Amino acid sequence: MPALSFFSKILPFLLVLSAGKSLADEARQQELRQLIKHDCGSCHGLTLQGGLGPSLTPERLKPFTPEQLAMTIVHGRPGTAMPPWRPFLSDAEAMWLAQGLKTGELP
Ligand code: HEC
Repeated sequence: MPALSFFSKILPFLLVLSAGKSLADEARQQELRQLIKHDCGSCHGLTLQGGLGPSLTPERLKPFTPEQLAMTIVHGRPGTAMPPWRPFLSDAEAMWLAQGLKTGELP
């Protein structure tokens, strides 16, 4: 059946694509933790206590909703040093980071 064989050909790619977006993936969570420490940390401080960018401690992030923080992470703040992370993060991953920062679970 041609339709089925086409599907079985693209199936591995579909799996790879969805795996990249899934946070059930422990390895990807490790990558994101590294990203927070090294990439975000270069401006926000290694322990996120602040540097060129403001501190990202749960205390300081209290006024923001996770959605607002995720928007800032994905789109950056135009006119400031905060760059958009859209090329590297999915919306779901930005949300995961935002929640992790707010709860203090990250970095
Ligand atoms: C090149 C420096 C730089 C890097 C790298 C950077 N940021 Fe920022 N970030 C900033 C600056 C500067 C601001 C403050 C922007 C402003 O004045 O509104 C900011 C603001 C933010 C805010 C909003 C906090 C607030 O109080 O307004 C969040 C959340 C944030 N950054 C998260 C991240 C995350 C997560 C990463 C890594 C994926 C990251 N940033 C990487 C410079 C950086």
